[in-house]
Amino acid sequence: MHHTRILGTGSYLPANRLTNDDLSKIVDTSDEWITERTGIKARHIAASGEQTSDLAVQAARIALDDAKISAEDIDLIIVATSTPDMTFPATACIVQNKLGIGGCAAFDVQAVCAGFMYAVVTANAYIKSGMAKKVLVIGAETFSRLLDWNDRRTCVLFGDGAGAVVLGASDEVGIIHAKLKADGAYSHILKTPGKVASGAVDASPYLYMDGQAVYKFAVKALAKIGADVLLEAGLTAADVDWVIPHQANYRIIESTAKHLGLPMEKVILTVQEQGNTSAASIPLALDAGIRDGRIQRGNTLLLEGIGGGFAWGAVVLKY
Ligand code: UT7
Repeated sequence: MHHTRILGTGSYLPANRLTNDDLSKIVDTSDEWITERTGIKARHIAASGEQTSDLAVQAARIALDDAKISAEDIDLIIVATSTPDMTFPATACIVQNKLGIGGCAAFDVQAVCAGFMYAVVTANAYIKSGMAKKVLVIGAETFSRLLDWNDRRTCVLFGDGAGAVVLGASDEVGIIHAKLKADGAYSHILKTPGKVASGAVDASPYLYMDGQAVYKFAVKALAKIGADVLLEAGLTAADVDWVIPHQANYRIIESTAKHLGLPMEKVILTVQEQGNTSAASIPLALDAGIRDGRIQRGNTLLLEGIGGGFAWGAVVLKY
């Protein structure tokens, strides 16, 4: 049986940076409110005409370079996104074409902010079963397009971006253990109900969130799945070098770390500069920690994410 290791990472943020002060000119909000409740100071917004696949391709090229392989070596592309370029085809197929390769398998995974966890676990299954040797896993989102820019409760929270990893079969241990969960009974607390039907968008095309219900659910579920994945792997919090959580909100991250008995010094944070980029946030944070030298080869990493569905997951791995 093969192991699954991270061979390379990459990320991309659109050029347009929107600060809290910029936002306070659009809606009735303030830098103070946003910073205190979320830890967010700024987020990046895709340019008009810049598609989710464009962000994904930028991140993918950097990850491929980092892995020192060419796009032709990839035999599966998985894109985690809830903001695809189109209803269909899959954004993964569009990415494949933009990378100039054809023929390999390509599909999207839709698990909102847990999408990257679902995509990594799927890639791991392909590699372990021998069905794929090198998998390009991308979390890419343009959530700015789901936001009602008149709704201060939601438009301040999200941003656009993409993060990519190349996962490959290896004799050395990489992914140690993983766990995915979902509970559709909570689908009503975080959703974008609109769908294309009969030539129009049926129901609201904007993101809706019951912030307090999401907050409570997220803290409990993340603390439990983080503890469970470590326990089942025969590890303790002391074995973890770095936590790379979904970057929704500083307070959720802090509270989860506390429940797990992990100091904030071991947590990679990008939420201040990126906001919540949904499926892109974990690979963006992972790449940030690797690029600035904090995450080193051989380190034990705990990745965890949660989002609409509700869907959540955690992965513990050796980098
Ligand atoms: O991937 C999962 C994604 N989601 C999350 O992680 C979000 C989880 N939830 C949260 O982080 C918090 O619930 C929020 C940050 C979204 C909101 O914080 P809260 O402490 O739950 O605020 P609230 O919704 O209870 O609103 C408190 C007040 C309200 O005013 P009134 O009715 O008390 O006068 C809101 O209208 O804050 C007001 N408010 C704002 N004020 C300034 C809501 N949004 C804003 C804003 N600026 N942007």
